Amino acid sequence: MSGQSLIRILVLHGPNLNLLGMREPEIYGSATLEELDAQLVVQARSVGAELQTVQSNHEGELVDAVHSAALWGARGAVVNAAAYTHTSIALRDALAGVGLPFVEVHLSNVHSREPFRHRSLLAEHAVGVIQGFGADSYRLGLLGLASYLRAS
Ligand code: DQA
Repeated sequence: MSGQSLIRILVLHGPNLNLLGMREPEIYGSATLEELDAQLVVQARSVGAELQTVQSNHEGELVDAVHSAALWGARGAVVNAAAYTHTSIALRDALAGVGLPFVEVHLSNVHSREPFRHRSLLAEHAVGVIQGFGADSYRLGLLGLASYLRAS
């Protein structure tokens, strides 16, 4: 895409996603987080976006990453908060607090899994939620977010 400035987007990965590739591959697939991020960076370029990718196993670090992304000039975020999706009021408040439009993504379809995964504390504030498509959930989330941001 030429003639348009790059849209800055934060990609946030929560706890245990650093283990992708070896963690329950029957649920989460065989791609590593590094591979997933590398693919996303390429996909981002094709929609005129620049990414900052962050993974942390610590709730406070995820909150800090949301604050920092806002200072960096992020216009939106693709968020897989992993287990914190279901528990973190702090992350929900951070996303709402900085007013960063975000798409919630999950590799697995959390609604076909244990009941404790059915509740998301983030979804209410999300532009949209994409789940169940493996690594492709991130790509679809990024595409949706980029077109949402371009239109707004
Ligand atoms: C997950 C689903 C969560 O319930 C789980 O805790 C994860 C990964 C997913 O991408 O499918 O760690 O967010």
